[in-house]
This record gives sequence, C-alpha cells and structure tokens, in this order.
Amino acid sequence: MKDIKEKIQSLRQQIRKHDNFYYVQNNPQITDQEYDRLFSELKKLEQQHPELITPDSPTQRVSEQPIDGFAQVTHTIPMLSIDNTYSAEELKDFDQRVIKGLGTKNYQYVVELKIDGLAVSLRYEKGILVLGATRGDGEKGDDVTNNIKTIKAIPLRLEDQPPDVLEVRGEVYMPKKAFAKLNEEKEKQGEPLFANPRNAAAGSLKLLDAKTTAQRNLSFFAYALGETSEPFAKTHYESLEKFKKIGLPVNPNIKKAETIEQVIEICNQWEDKRFELPYQIDGMVIKIDRLDQHDILGTTGRAPRWCMSYKFAAEQAKTKVLSIDVQVGKTGILTPVANFEPVLLAGTTVKRASLHNFDEIDRLDVRQGDTVIIEKAGEIIPQVIEVKKEFRPKEAKPFKPPTKCPVCNSKVEKDPDGVYVRCVSSNCPAQLKEKLRYFAGRDQMDIENLGPALIEQLVDKGLVKDFADLYKLDIFALASLERMAQKSAQNVLDGIEKSKQAPLARLVAALGIRHIGIQNAEILTQQFGSIDEIKGAAEEEFTRIEQIGPVLAKSIYEYFHNSNNLKIIDKLTAAGVNPKQKQTKKGDKLSGKTFVVTGTLENFSRSQIEQTIKDNGGKISSSVSKKTDYVLAGTEAGSKLDKAQQLGVKILNENQFLDMIGKK
Ligand code: IVH
Repeated sequence: MKDIKEKIQSLRQQIRKHDNFYYVQNNPQITDQEYDRLFSELKKLEQQHPELITPDSPTQRVSEQPIDGFAQVTHTIPMLSIDNTYSAEELKDFDQRVIKGLGTKNYQYVVELKIDGLAVSLRYEKGILVLGATRGDGEKGDDVTNNIKTIKAIPLRLEDQPPDVLEVRGEVYMPKKAFAKLNEEKEKQGEPLFANPRNAAAGSLKLLDAKTTAQRNLSFFAYALGETSEPFAKTHYESLEKFKKIGLPVNPNIKKAETIEQVIEICNQWEDKRFELPYQIDGMVIKIDRLDQHDILGTTGRAPRWCMSYKFAAEQAKTKVLSIDVQVGKTGILTPVANFEPVLLAGTTVKRASLHNFDEIDRLDVRQGDTVIIEKAGEIIPQVIEVKKEFRPKEAKPFKPPTKCPVCNSKVEKDPDGVYVRCVSSNCPAQLKEKLRYFAGRDQMDIENLGPALIEQLVDKGLVKDFADLYKLDIFALASLERMAQKSAQNVLDGIEKSKQAPLARLVAALGIRHIGIQNAEILTQQFGSIDEIKGAAEEEFTRIEQIGPVLAKSIYEYFHNSNNLKIIDKLTAAGVNPKQKQTKKGDKLSGKTFVVTGTLENFSRSQIEQTIKDNGGKISSSVSKKTDYVLAGTEAGSKLDKAQQLGVKILNENQFLDMIGKK
C-alpha cells in the first residue's frame, strides 16, 4: 500500500511538472503520448484505490456533475477596474498626476499586455486552490471553482511554500485558435456565434456543466495580488516573478519602464505587433511598480490611481464590395456574403465577409459596388462596419433579398420569431450537400474519404438523395465518378461501412437536428438507448433531462415526428445503421436532490461519496445555496456548514445519509 501511495504521488508530481512545462512555460518536455501514458497510469491506480484520491490530483480537474447555479462570493479586497486612455497625450497627463500624487519623480512603471478576457480571483490556502471567482461587479462575483479547475494553465496546487493564504488575480482568456474553432462548431450547429474571444471566455466560464468548460481550451495569466496572509513582495514586478516561481503562468511580455516616453514607445510597438500573438489583447496596462506607492496614490473608488490602460483602436481597412452572394446552409438558412477586392487587415488577406442576414444588409444599406470599412470582430472575423456612401457609384441598386432559394428555386420563408430567411424545400440540393458534409464530419459519423468534392458529385448526379442513400452506394457507381478509380472508390465504401459502428450519440448528432450537436446528443443518449426509444418518447421526457430545456426538447420531438425524417431513419435502420447504447441503471432514492458534502466522512472518500450520491440519482454541488437540498457534514466541516445553517438548508450526518439510501 505504501508503494502504491508513493507511486501515485510520484505520478502526480510528474504530471504537474509537465502541465507547468506545457501550459505555463509553453515549453513541453515530453510528447503528448508520454503525457497521456502518465495520466492514464495515475487514473488507473486511483480507480483501484479511490481512498487515495485527493482534490488536488490532476485527475480531479473535471467535476462530473453539472451544478444548479453559482453561489455568490464577496471579494475580501474589491476587484477594481482600470481607467482608460486612448493617446500618448492622455498617458502624459496620467504621468503628471502620478508625480503630483507621489510628490516625487522617483518611481518606475511596469508595462503589460491588456489581455482580452475576463478577470478572476483564485484563492489558494496552504498552496491548494480552494476558490475561483469571477470579478462580477467588483464587490461580489460568482463562485466558478469547478470551471476554473478545468483550466490546465491554472495549478491546483502551488510549489515552493507559498503563503498560507494567497489570492491571485488574473485574466481567463480564450486563445484565438480555440475561439475560431468554437465559432466554426457553432456555425455548423446553426447557433449564434460569439462576437469575440472575451465573450467566448466569459460564456465558457459561466457554464453550469464543467465538462463543457473543459472542452473550451481556456487559459490564464496571473497579473495582480489579492489578499495574502503575510507580505508577499515589495514591488509589482517582484510579485510577478514570485508568481512564476510558485507555478503560476505570467505573461512573458512584461517590461519595466523608467519614463512615460518609454511607456509610450512600448505601447506603440505592441499596437503593431499585437496580431502576431496567439491571443487577443485590446491595449496595454501601465502600473506603478512599488506597492507602497500604490497605497500612497490610493483609488478613486472605481479604479486605482497607480494603474492606467492604453486602449488600441480597432484596426480597419477600406475595400470595395464586388458582389453579394447568398449561401444556403444545412438547415436552409440563407446567408448573404459580401465578396471584396482582397485587402490586408490585421495580419490576413480578407476576401469576403458574412453579412449575417437581410436585416443587417438593410441596416447597413450595403450594395454591390460600395466602398466599405471593414474591421475584424475579435480580430478574427471580418465584418462590414460602415458604408462610405460618398463613393457609391450612381448605378448601385439596393440589394433585393431573394424571394426564391438561389439554388433550388423553391419558396423561402422568414422565421416567425427571428431574422432568418430559410429555403423550405426538403429537396434543396444545397441543403442536402451541407447536411451530408455534416453527417460525414469528424464529430459525427466520421466517414473517411467522403469529402466535399465527392458529395458535390453524388448529389448533382442524383446518386444520393438522403443520408441513407450513402449506404446503398456500390463500387460501380462510385468508380464512374470524376477523379475516382477502383481503389479510391473502395476506400470510400470502407469508410461508409465503418461508420455503421458509430455510437448512438454520433448518429443522433449526425442527423443535424437543430440545436443538437455531439454534446447534447451525448446527454440525450445517456437516457435513451436507441433511435427507437427516442422516437417513441413524449416531449416531456426530453424536458425532464437536466440539461435539455424546452427549446431543445421541442426541436428533438418535432424532428422525430416529421414523416420525411422518419422515412430516412427507417432506411438507415434497414441499411444496418442502428446503434444501441447500454444504459447504466441508477437508483432513485436521492432522485433530483442536490447535495453539498463538507468535512471528513468516516465511511467514504470524497470520490466514493460523490459516486454513491450519483448512483442513487442525486446531484453534487460544490457550494451551498438556497437550491441545495442537503448538506452532508462530516467532522471538521467548515464554512459550508455555517452557510447551510444560515440559509436553513437541511444538514445530515453520515448516519442519517446511510439511512436515506437504505444502507444501515
Ligand atoms: S490589472 C486594479 N493587468 O482589464 C487593476 N488587468 O479594463 C487590476 N486586464 O478588469 C487589474 N490584462 O480584466 C490588469 N495585465 C493586466 C490586464 C488586466 C487585462 C483586464 C482586467 C480588468 C480589465 C480592466
């Protein structure tokens, strides 16, 4: 047993070390495979010895159970915001105020990037992460500990003897690549896109299901000190150095400056270079270095006098609209797209931009031939901001929204509740192509070798009229297509054959039901074991599932009560595409009840009690709120027990709990 404990500890140490190399220092030392091997070895040992699991183990980053809502946290020291400047002049004014406030010219600045994400506070006690909270209104934020823990750049445990209490503040952000990928997914789902990485980061941190947050690839930089149990540093720069030493990620582009002129120069350099960074910044933050001088300068209530931000202007470009196309998506939505004279903007050549919908065209009054100003929303997605009407050619006519589908000529209709116009035909080849592309996509049926060019031909030649037709294709039909030979045709057939083994959730996702991507499909198939079961369910059975709201429920129900869809599903079944999902049978003694566990229990480790509650149909939350049904308190229960008493939440001891589940 001692050996196993030591083995587990050594694995955890190695994993933490490599997490730090990878996520904090950006300098991985082992391959992903080697890392995965360490991780699965630890996981296996912990599964065999659940009593050895500790909350700071790298395996404990993702909490399994969604929570009902966030508890409020009062910040012991308020989280202030920063005043903004927009020019060198304003920065010089700030410098003059600093000289006046300090009564001396003896001070230094630290200049940092202003990361475009959201501010959070991380509280470490005895080196262990115990609380992660959003800034909220500066006084009170949300307890988002479960979600914070999924961010790999944030250590669950600090190194090198940090103070007993150390509150660190910093920015949670979404790297540009992760942002682009997330929006791509959203677009495929026909869901509204995030306008910029900041909104995406905020949205991801405030999800009630930490499992989803874990998939969002958030990251973190520490940039300020909060409450500490003992003095931590004399200067801001020193505190950042110490953060690094104890394992916290600090942005590498931080510079000291002696004068405001040097500050301005650094700001100007980054204004040009910012597009090379893998994350978005919207300006610079300038701070007085000495912490005693922070106290002298004080705050204006809302913002400190020792800190200032310099905001960049969004980069813009001028170009010409060559034409406006209308594209048809997989759910029939018609999206207008402007084609431009190619122009360089924020690091890439931009040739086209979505105009989103016809109301937006109306609002902008953008026409073919117009000269327009474009900007990149979140530095990534180009948008038309303004039409320069003074350059409009005389012959330019207002854009007329199509009254028919531009591809199949069928009727189009405006959504009753929205701004979207759809092609309502169920036989529109453009929709079918998009649907098939999605069906075969990597997160759905993952059909190898069935790419867009082949789909194009299959639809145009009338060989495929719905998903099920894919399973009827034969080698002769395929080999007769352009750029196809016997061998490549066989590869396609193999890919199609293999997809019959795809799990149920993937098939459900592949159908392209509105709002049902792979994540929701997985939630759904935890409750329903086959397509037949889903087909037979009443709408209320869907709403009863925790994460499925009325809009999703309606969408699923309607999909499975449309005769066209049912015909295709029957064809799929007949072709052998009919996966089954094994259901894990759960008890229901604690059905629907939310538990918070606190203190040490006699008969259960933390993971055992959580599993037991879940196995009996209950839910776990990490913080006590009015929505908590029971607090299960062991010995040495702390603040959660106090909170339960305050709120009048029912408190159970271990015996009472065992009684409830009939184990006594
Ligand atoms: S310092 C009292 N440093 O900007 C000063 N903030 O507009 C505490 N931000 O709420 C914050 N990068 O979310 C600081 N290097 C940086 C920052 C930074 C981004 C954010 C932060 C703050 C907001 C104010």
